[in-house]
Amino acid sequence: MNVHHHSYDAVIVGAGGAGLRAAIETAGKCRTAVITKLYPTRSHTGAAQGGMCAALANVEEDSWEWHLFDTIKGGDYLVDQPAAEIMCREAIDAVIELEHFGLPFNRTPEGKIDQRRFGGHTRNHGEAPVMRACYSADRTGHMILQTLFQQCVARDVNFFNEYQVLDIAFEDGRVAGVIAYDQATGDLHVFNTKAVLFATGGFGKMFQVSSNAHTLTGDGPGLLYRRGIPMQDMEFFQFHPTGIYKLGILLSEAARGEGGILRNDSNERFMERYAPTVKDLAPRDMVARAIQTEILEGRGIGENKDAVYLDLTHLPPEQIDAKLPDITEFVRTYLGIEPKTAPIPIQPTAHYAMGGIPTNIDGECISDDQGTVIPGLYAAGECACVSVHGANRLGTNSLLDIVVFGKRGGRAMADFVQSTDLPALSKGVEGDVKARIDLLKANSGKEKAGALRIALQEEMTKKAFVFRTDESLASALRTVRDLQTAYESVGIDDKGNVFNYDLTEALELSYLFDLAEATIVSAQARTESRGAHFRNDHPTRDDANWMKHTLARRGADGSVSLSYKPVVGGAYEPMERKY
Ligand code: FUM
Repeated sequence: MNVHHHSYDAVIVGAGGAGLRAAIETAGKCRTAVITKLYPTRSHTGAAQGGMCAALANVEEDSWEWHLFDTIKGGDYLVDQPAAEIMCREAIDAVIELEHFGLPFNRTPEGKIDQRRFGGHTRNHGEAPVMRACYSADRTGHMILQTLFQQCVARDVNFFNEYQVLDIAFEDGRVAGVIAYDQATGDLHVFNTKAVLFATGGFGKMFQVSSNAHTLTGDGPGLLYRRGIPMQDMEFFQFHPTGIYKLGILLSEAARGEGGILRNDSNERFMERYAPTVKDLAPRDMVARAIQTEILEGRGIGENKDAVYLDLTHLPPEQIDAKLPDITEFVRTYLGIEPKTAPIPIQPTAHYAMGGIPTNIDGECISDDQGTVIPGLYAAGECACVSVHGANRLGTNSLLDIVVFGKRGGRAMADFVQSTDLPALSKGVEGDVKARIDLLKANSGKEKAGALRIALQEEMTKKAFVFRTDESLASALRTVRDLQTAYESVGIDDKGNVFNYDLTEALELSYLFDLAEATIVSAQARTESRGAHFRNDHPTRDDANWMKHTLARRGADGSVSLSYKPVVGGAYEPMERKY
């Protein structure tokens, strides 16, 4: 295996919205390499649909304080309030900056950036839904990704496309490099660097029904977790209410923002029972639970009664064409249904990790409950946990998060590298990656990665989904551990070096197993229900004991240990979460 060596001031891993926004910040300030396992414009930010919120008040009265309140309440009070305040305040400038970068937002008749409703976003502390989401039809993420990429091209950002980062090297407690696999050649590349920012996105492929692309396998958090970095709040995984039945492909909440309605088999608008004030525009955790409850109580639709309808048939056809063109085309393509005239079968789909690599408000990774910074290590976007989403993220706060914290992380990293020398990198740091690849190629192939991945996804969807119990989680944990053992015998059929997806998918699977284990162990320990983590055996929120973040750490022997750190409060005291 050929090994190549590079040296850069800074490395960014991942070229979705967070990575690209960070790169814009470091461009011209320090020598930066952006390493991505995809071509940048194929990153999953491009799949985000409905909008990016900011209290611009372009369409109706709004304020960043109301946005902050909604974010904290939506997150079921596990949100760190100072971090969320930064996000909600900086949202306004972030949208204007994107507009100046050239992003084609939808416009009001007067030419202002248009805004629409989204779940959990309200006027005056919960009075009624508010129009806060800035959008480009139902392809807002796509537009953000293209805009940021063009800005990177204009700044001559240095991309290493289709290079997969598989390990990190520390020297004397600070970051010193990353090890990447070049998919086109099978060669390894060692990047000696002063700082690394991870922006690798989520890990929703641990679930069977998922809105996440095949590439969302948690490589960044997974490789850091293996090197002893704790993962924060892994028990909080968001299930988006409206995935295409069986396939999980996202049908944007914008459909309900534009007036779409959820209905059960009696054509009842059932959200009126669960959230009388905001109805279909309640936060996602509540809507997903309501849908699952309808299904479990026998009011689901179809032969198997395991879905409900998203009904757009009452919306003017020209509104559907103008505001929801992509998702309605998905429905035609994947279900053969015309959404202007027939309701759409949907079910909750695994969508977003609230948990991940713990960071502070400047994207610096922290290693413990004391907030100790790991010199040179940064993270931003879905793979990070700066605790702005708490136990349940509000729709449109993720595109905001990647832009605000991608920028802050990139800026902090650019400052950091000015003040430090390039650390020496030990010889042979690529050894572990090389050994993993050699083993997969040498194994007889008694076990196949594809079969193990399906087993993981089915188990997580059955037992660690919208509703959980101690029993279901214990059973899922046993399965995941059995699968981890089976993984030791995985072999691959393709022994080649050129775009060997047999190999890269097997490598990715090992991260998914570790992160699934951290998710289950964290969920089993949290004996309460909060946000997206609902325990049938502990159905209420327990503020006396659980106003704290979980840190899951993997020991050298593979064991998982948990510790906790307090939620950082602020102006808003926890209250009952009614909508
Ligand atoms: O429903 C959506 O358009 C998804 C948005 C989000 O996850 O923020």
